[in-house]
Amino acid sequence: MLLSLAQSRRVLFLGGKGGVGKTTIASAVALDAARSGRRVLVVSTDPAHNLGHLWERRIGDRVTPLADGAGGGAVHGIEIDPDATTDQHLRDVATTLKRLMPRTLHGEVDKHMDLSRRSPGTHEAAVLERMTELVERGREEFDLVVLDTAPSGHTARLMALPEVMTAWTDGLLARREKSARLGAARRGLERRGPGRRGEGDLGASVLGSTAPRDPLEERDEEIRAILLRRRDRLAGLRETLTDPAVTSFAIVLAAERLPVLETIELHEELTRTGVHVGALVVNKRSPSDRGDFLARRRAVEGEHLATLHSALPEVPCQEVPLGEEDVVGPAALARFAGLLAPATADGPGPRRG
Ligand SMILES: Nc1ncnc2c1ncn2[C@@H]1O[C@H](COP(=O)(O)OP(=O)(O)OP(=O)(O)O)[C@@H](O)[C@H]1O
Ligand SMILES: [Mg+2]
Repeated sequence: MLLSLAQSRRVLFLGGKGGVGKTTIASAVALDAARSGRRVLVVSTDPAHNLGHLWERRIGDRVTPLADGAGGGAVHGIEIDPDATTDQHLRDVATTLKRLMPRTLHGEVDKHMDLSRRSPGTHEAAVLERMTELVERGREEFDLVVLDTAPSGHTARLMALPEVMTAWTDGLLARREKSARLGAARRGLERRGPGRRGEGDLGASVLGSTAPRDPLEERDEEIRAILLRRRDRLAGLRETLTDPAVTSFAIVLAAERLPVLETIELHEELTRTGVHVGALVVNKRSPSDRGDFLARRRAVEGEHLATLHSALPEVPCQEVPLGEEDVVGPAALARFAGLLAPATADGPGPRRG
């Protein structure tokens, strides 16, 4: 069920609490898609990356080939480095600000950037910017982008950011428009001098007429262009994230009390943001036939899952059995991907959906 969800989408997010199996499942889904001929990019947005460890490869902050599939299909991976991303982001912002500000203020820009580096919002904004870029690039160069995200709370905030930041940018733009209009009107008046006010002239100067433009006007124009570009990019990301035909989100969880409650909450948050939740993946499900202890454990898990299903009856749910060993390396991943494939009569597989 998760595999068919991935087959029918261009962007798949995996989210959930720490250690539930997001990276393992993201990689297994990617491997399966590559085997059916798709080119897949796995993006790890979690600062504590283990994508490289899982594939037994050094990955880091560049697109790295991980596995070949069939018929041109392949898996590539990248681990977003939040510190490097934040630094780059601040460097870009500082360069732009310095271009737009008089040299005497450049020291202030540096001070401000230094302070920004330590504010948590900057970090998220930088990671979001990078995600935007990778989703855009991923959609051009790959058939499927799988995003292995950081544990829950962070993820839902990140998904809501394009909306928040678009609103923020729109507010700034509206203010700039207003001050640009006032500025243009004022300059129009100054150029014409007293007693030569005409509606037509004013209108022409507002629209950026034939008169030579002063540096202030050009600066305003550039700031506006930057804000507009940013808004369009974020709006584009939002459009991608909220189009259920393109993007889906799978929540990975363990069949325990708190993870179940958190999953219900995360589902609500994502749905409110307009993100389609296409699957719940209950990982590490205890077996029923390996002794009393695990059988009892399985029964308790069943109770928690009943809560989950009664809260979210409409979301397809897939269970993945607990394995004896950790999943490390491409061969183990391929076996794990087999566990995600549709069920045989008595084997593991989807519960429903
Ligand atoms: N079904 C399974 N059976 C046994 N072990 C599993 C199973 N799924 C995942 N694991 C193991 O559980 C550990 C955590 O998995 P993984 O790293 O994929 O989780 P994660 O959600 O990405 O964690 P984090 O939030 O820390 O990034 C790994 O050692 C992995 O091999
Ligand atoms: Mg992980």
